[in-house]
Amino acid sequence: AAYKLLLLPGDGIGPEIMAEAEKLVAFLSAAGVAAFETEKGLVGGAAYDAHGVAISEGDMALAQSADAVLLAAVGGPKWDGVPYDVRPEAGLLRLRKDLGLFANLRPAICYPALVDASSLKPDLVDGLDIMIVRELTGGVYFGEPKEITDLGNGQKRGVDTQVYETYEIERIARVAFELARKRSNRVTSSEKSNVMKSGLLWREVVTALHARDYSDVKLDHMLADSLGMQLVRRPKQFDVIVTDNLFGDLLSDVASMLTGSLGMLPSASLGGEDAATGKRKALYEPVHGSAPDIAGKGLANPIAMIGSVVMALRYSFGLTAVADAVDKAIADVLAAGLRTADIAAGGATVSTSEMGDAILAELKKT
Ligand code: NAI
Ligand code: MG
Repeated sequence: AAYKLLLLPGDGIGPEIMAEAEKLVAFLSAAGVAAFETEKGLVGGAAYDAHGVAISEGDMALAQSADAVLLAAVGGPKWDGVPYDVRPEAGLLRLRKDLGLFANLRPAICYPALVDASSLKPDLVDGLDIMIVRELTGGVYFGEPKEITDLGNGQKRGVDTQVYETYEIERIARVAFELARKRSNRVTSSEKSNVMKSGLLWREVVTALHARDYSDVKLDHMLADSLGMQLVRRPKQFDVIVTDNLFGDLLSDVASMLTGSLGMLPSASLGGEDAATGKRKALYEPVHGSAPDIAGKGLANPIAMIGSVVMALRYSFGLTAVADAVDKAIADVLAAGLRTADIAAGGATVSTSEMGDAILAELKKT
């Protein structure tokens, strides 16, 4: 049976980079690597303009029945004034919530050809390959109470609450351990167990799960502040990092700058395994936004979007050899000197579609 992909190009540069992802998917189908069936929907400002919502019920149903969703980017100044409930980001949040996407995977890979784009010295990042696994549906961003109350004396109180239960920690840790087994077999779990009860529980649960099911994987614990420091000091010591929603948000943004360009970074958000089919709901998207400043000009770097397809091949479809081949094509094209404007450092540049075509041409050689 064909794999069903829902494509949500969204706004700004979204349609331009999604076109390059589509070329790759069409090529893989035509080459007989795997059969993909694609459908297209609207999300973000594009959905608001068409339906007055950030994603329609029809497109949500398509997302629910798809084997994987590919999303490019949402948002832009055009929709700054729209009501809060239907702002572009609401489409993304609805997808995450309704698909139960609790695990956010953010790789930080530094291609040898791009070491100079890093915020760190080349030798610290050359060959860097970290995977940050961030819990995405719990913690302080969602815990109750969550409110601002008026204390009546000219003072107010703002409250957010960090809540984690055993099952939430176990399922995210499981994702990290399983990933580590396919990589360098090392997990660093991070929290603030020295000052937070939820952090203490996090450490206990991860430790117990490790002893029970994953004792073949090397596990370390590191306090989140210390991990932030080590990420900038000696990032190559890490393989898989697993952490909560808040710390994962911060640490993955720090890690992204170790690699140089926002236009290069893909991500995956995974849900739980369906007990009957063993399949996971999944959404793949670049880390960057809709880049309205360069939209419609053919300047966008499509690599983060293409890399998001690669993650789908790897984590939704188990097509590891194909994923490796596309990754290698990306690395080879970069090594040959091809650059979109964002990574050109003043040198010669190619357009969005030229970069996509070059990666496909490289892939066809293998
Ligand atoms: P952004 O990531 O869109 O852009 C930041 C800078 O990086 C810009 O100079 C942009 O031109 C550049 N850039 C980003 N992606 C690029 C690519 N593929 N190739 C070349 N250059 C690239 O972030 P910004 O400007 O803060 O937000 C713009 C809009 O995107 C806003 O409406 C924001 O809400 C939305 N946004 C959406 C996200 C999503 O869809 N997941 C994530 C972040 C922001
Ligand atoms: Mg962030």
